[in-house]
Amino acid sequence: MKKCSIAVLMALAFAVAALVGTAAIAQDTKSGKVEDTFKIKEAAFKKFTKSPVEFTHKKHSVDHKVACTECHHVYKDGKNVFKDGDKVQKCSACHTDPKKDHGKLLSTKNAFHKNCQPCHKAAKKGPRKCTECHPKG
Ligand code: HEC
Ligand code: HEC
Ligand code: HEC
Ligand code: HEC
Repeated sequence: MKKCSIAVLMALAFAVAALVGTAAIAQDTKSGKVEDTFKIKEAAFKKFTKSPVEFTHKKHSVDHKVACTECHHVYKDGKNVFKDGDKVQKCSACHTDPKKDHGKLLSTKNAFHKNCQPCHKAAKKGPRKCTECHPKG
């Protein structure tokens, strides 16, 4: 009887571990762990007028073969010197103004839009309409 309950407990422990495992699928990069898919839901917006955007991070770098430097950058003398292994900051750490551009420094909204949209347009693939990225309008 005692042996049996231990076996049940062990099985339970494994089941819980498996569940926790799947809840936190993450891509390992040299820069750190990042969830495979996540809602960006940038806090800088405070109030959303459109629905937050679900982003397939791992799919973009692995399946769509988009280089880290297409999206992440650290500019030095006008050149993007970002490489995997460097710490990644949130876009809003530099693109701080939610709505207004300040010269070359785009607003948070335009930083996302001007990163995400031109590539889909050029590739004629991926979401291009507002509601394809913001499904609830
Ligand atoms: C390729 C994807 C993509 C397309 C297409 C797109 N957006 Fe966005 N947009 C984003 C992302 C990413 C954010 C940041 C969302 C977040 O924080 O979850 C954003 C943020 C916004 C925001 C600021 C946050 C808010 O809810 O107020 C507005 C406004 C917005 N988009 C409007 C639009 C409109 C209007 C269109 C169509 C003309 C559009 N977007 C098309 C990706 C897209
Ligand atoms: C197609 C665009 C895109 C590509 C390609 C991409 N990323 Fe990202 N990555 C993002 C976005 C967008 C975020 C969320 C940023 C935010 O919330 O401000 C992010 C977040 C991250 C984070 C988490 C940062 C944090 O503070 O939570 C890490 C780490 C990261 N990326 C590393 C990488 C590495 C390394 C590569 C290349 C192997 C890569 N990314 C490729 C767009 C991309
Ligand atoms: C360390 C600060 C910093 C971070 C973090 C950052 N940016 Fe930028 N970004 C800049 C600066 C500075 C420029 C202007 C560069 C220039 O002089 O042209 C810029 C330019 C851009 C541009 C226009 C030129 C280009 O490279 O395409 C886009 C789009 C952009 N950022 C999107 C993003 C997105 C999306 C993220 C997050 C995944 C992000 N940025 C994170 C500082 C940053
Ligand atoms: C340099 C190119 C590039 C950039 C930058 C890029 N994407 Fe994509 N995206 C793609 C490609 C390629 C596909 C695949 C389209 C297909 O095969 O149907 C895609 C597909 C998608 C899809 C559909 C789901 C999937 O992964 O197949 C979403 C949603 C999406 N992108 C959102 C975004 C958002 C949000 C950003 C900005 C944070 C972004 N993308 C930046 C190239 C890019």
